[in-house]
Amino acid sequence: MSSATSAPHISAAPAHGASSIFVIGLLASLAGLMFGLDIGVISGAQSFIQKDFHISDRTLEWVVSSMMAGAAMGALGCSWLSASLGRKRSLMLGGILFVIGSLVCALAPMPEVLIGGRFVLGIAIGIASYTAPLYIAEIAPEATRGRMISTYQLMITTGILVAFLSDTAFSYQGSWRWMLGVIAIPGILFLVGLFALPDSPRWLMMRGQKEEATRVLMRLRGDRRLVDKEVSEIAEQLKKPQVGFTLFKENSHFRRSVWLGVLLQAMQQFTGMNVVMYYAPRIFQAMGYATEAQMWFTALVGLTNVLATLIAMAVIDRWGRKPTLYTGFTVMAIGLGVVGFMMMGGAPKSHDMQLFTVIMLLVFIVGFAMSAGPLIWTLCSEIQPLKGRDFGIAASTFTNWITNMIVGATFLSLLNGLGTSQTFWLYGGLNAVFLILTFLLVPETKGVTLEHIESRLMAGEKLRDIGQ
Ligand code: BGC
Repeated sequence: MSSATSAPHISAAPAHGASSIFVIGLLASLAGLMFGLDIGVISGAQSFIQKDFHISDRTLEWVVSSMMAGAAMGALGCSWLSASLGRKRSLMLGGILFVIGSLVCALAPMPEVLIGGRFVLGIAIGIASYTAPLYIAEIAPEATRGRMISTYQLMITTGILVAFLSDTAFSYQGSWRWMLGVIAIPGILFLVGLFALPDSPRWLMMRGQKEEATRVLMRLRGDRRLVDKEVSEIAEQLKKPQVGFTLFKENSHFRRSVWLGVLLQAMQQFTGMNVVMYYAPRIFQAMGYATEAQMWFTALVGLTNVLATLIAMAVIDRWGRKPTLYTGFTVMAIGLGVVGFMMMGGAPKSHDMQLFTVIMLLVFIVGFAMSAGPLIWTLCSEIQPLKGRDFGIAASTFTNWITNMIVGATFLSLLNGLGTSQTFWLYGGLNAVFLILTFLLVPETKGVTLEHIESRLMAGEKLRDIGQ
């Protein structure tokens, strides 16, 4: 997420302003960590849950995907929530639901309760996934905004890795209840940390509390001159009220950017990334590995995801959005195509072929983490015009969770119905289609202001031309 207004001198704020910004950004990013923990934790727990409750693959798919259904609900209600309760209190509500959801899951006496607990957890991260980037963008100075948003994506992948590692540790006792319960601890830490956060200055201004907003900004920036400038910039921007749904009904140009955001998030999910995030042990089982190896390879998947995200953070602003997406979708299509090929007729026959299949799955992970993972979130916030930004981002975030749910709720059925190779080919083929869609529809937004994008969109330029 970047902003159109540039204030290069902001980075020269006194040290105490900079360090409190860092702590605040880190705390808000813990929401990303919880997002990741939630995504990652279910993969290692599944086989133990299935054995304990004697449930079918179909019910297991619902244990996995009820969380995404909850997240879609959370994301839907969130723009209202974060406007009326405020960003900070919305995050608190997310934190409370996260702790409750984790405990309900850990103590669930029957699968239905587990599905309900996962739904509550989902609402929590639906709230967090909408509010945390918004809050970070609103408190961060222009100069560090991009970096703080990428830190958020890094925290998601770190959360997934930590969940995979903790699952591996608990797998030796087969304790799925501990796997699901232990993530309440970071939830509690997050809640405690949230008390130290100030309200977002922009939200305070929206409520007419200019003095309080100025006080918060003084704490963050530490320089009266900069603060006055920022306060008048926010006041200027607030003169354009959010008229999302009305604009959506009335303006065909805005409808195009909303649908592009929706398409982009659907593309991110139908890469198949979360098939691996949710079902990695099962995939390694199909490759012929025993439980211990399945868990360790899953942890390796998580580590690869974190490392490749770090690479992405280094190259994204230099390569530009489209070349990065082209590379990512190509790598993903090849990775999954080869995995499918290697698994024709069951698990790969030799040890070397098994290992090669694992490597190709890791290649797929790298392809996602260096491209669609961080980039789609960035693009979705860049393409919406200011007056409709909240609506546009809410629509794309909602799509992210709905399509995430579809992917989670169908994978085992696809494996059982279509077959393993065919399922991987299906996702590989979709990645090839996304390559073409990127060429046809995605704009290059590197290095251009949001105002430039907005004026070209609203002037009716082709979507792929609204950037550079
Ligand atoms: C996606 C998640 C995914 C994660 C993996 C995020 O950008 O939205 O669905 O699980 O990346 O790192």
